[in-house]
Amino acid sequence: MSERYVVAIDQGTTSTRCIVFDRRGRLHAVAQQEHHQYYPRPGWVEHDAMEIWHHVRRTATAALQSAGIGLDQVAALGITNQRETTVLWDRHTGRPVARAIVWQDTRTDELVNALAATPGAESIPKRCGLPLATYFSAPRIRWLLDHTPGLRERALAGDILFGTMETWLIWNLTGLHVTDVTNASRTQLMDLRTLAWDPELLDFFGIPAAVLPTIRPSVGVLGTCRDVLDGVPIAAALGDQQAALFGQTCFTPGEAKCTYGTGSFLLLHTGLEPVASTHGLLSTVAYQLAGEAPAYALEGSIAITGSLVQWFRDQLGLITTAPEIETLARTVKDNGGCYIVPAFSGLYAPHWRSSARGVIVGLTSYITKGHLARAVLEATGWQTREVVDAMNADSGIALSTLKVDGGMTSDNLLMQFVADVLDVPVVRPMVAETVSLGAAYAAGLAVGYWPDLGALRDLWHRAGQWQPDMSPALRATEYGNWQRAVAHTFDWIQ
Ligand code: G3P
Repeated sequence: MSERYVVAIDQGTTSTRCIVFDRRGRLHAVAQQEHHQYYPRPGWVEHDAMEIWHHVRRTATAALQSAGIGLDQVAALGITNQRETTVLWDRHTGRPVARAIVWQDTRTDELVNALAATPGAESIPKRCGLPLATYFSAPRIRWLLDHTPGLRERALAGDILFGTMETWLIWNLTGLHVTDVTNASRTQLMDLRTLAWDPELLDFFGIPAAVLPTIRPSVGVLGTCRDVLDGVPIAAALGDQQAALFGQTCFTPGEAKCTYGTGSFLLLHTGLEPVASTHGLLSTVAYQLAGEAPAYALEGSIAITGSLVQWFRDQLGLITTAPEIETLARTVKDNGGCYIVPAFSGLYAPHWRSSARGVIVGLTSYITKGHLARAVLEATGWQTREVVDAMNADSGIALSTLKVDGGMTSDNLLMQFVADVLDVPVVRPMVAETVSLGAAYAAGLAVGYWPDLGALRDLWHRAGQWQPDMSPALRATEYGNWQRAVAHTFDWIQ
């Protein structure tokens, strides 16, 4: 019998990837396509959901072709996705009613402030694990219902469907309107304990239940593809950061990972009960195997890390490819006194200030583009430090090692800096595509391609390690400077 494989689709913020994995968790073939980013106004970020669906079809076909395999050799498909990005579409035509509003978009700032002043606002984090912020889906659904003529009436009549990207893709692939617990936990509409839509949250945000998908476990067959990948079972769906936690095989409480992509997201497995954060972290579902209790995580979400490098490349034009940032940063020995705080979408964890905007401080005539490049990379290191401090304070346990993954981990200068400012070793696994790998692991586990979590754990191999090498005095001074720079971003929008 011919070899079988598991396929993962990773629908991310900047691109869509389809990756074919073999039984040893090795990457067998990959196809990738970037989609257009729309910035119609300051603070607005949109995607064309139709374009993304077409890219899923194209990359799936291309990945199978490049792997040289047929559909009968695909044991299962796992889907993982940028979370919180919100699509509403017409159930009859299948056409989105507007462009998808991306997780980084801050247009709901005023709405969120108004909601925060509404009676009952203080109980929201207790119910869903998330603070009131522009980051999550619920305010975006409300914004679309308020700003699209006739949409609320159509939604109440049952003609409009809501989804984050996995729901949109599964609907196109199978005709089913479903989500998984990890993605549902980012809408702000799900009760974190019962894993069901919460009528009081729906009422608070003014969202009709008729638009919502059915919530399902993350690991377990959700449906069968009838389009591209015809006949293949969709056996897992997870938000991308939860997928990375799964791909890093963080299956026991106390294990943590940080994924460095467009933004960066540090997740700590906290066990079978949600932990309420008192230090600005999110409480979220890590994953749920069908028929089992869910596992929970604490999350430190950083909105802008890799996208700061993209901004440096595309908007400032100081480099032509993202990896050049390391070469440019190495032309100088330090940051020259310059700090960049990329509060482009406000500041997320642990500050949660949607009115913050970015700053560059410490500019003198001495500063070169090399210093700016270094400040760009250091911004990612210091933001990691802030969420690790919050994580240590919330959990009462100091992190002893950080598992990392994602595109930015190929930057050795950055990874060394992260180890330096955290003062703990940083380790990277062999497969840096941990988001896709986690979706593949989850799907393969659901159909028995891999027998159990232990078998997945055996596939984790270390490929890189960075040891801290910064004096405590320098670390303390630099962190103090960073914190003063952060204070300059607060409440820029009055
Ligand atoms: O919460 C947003 C996150 O899921 C986006 O991840 O990797 O697409 O930037 P990424």
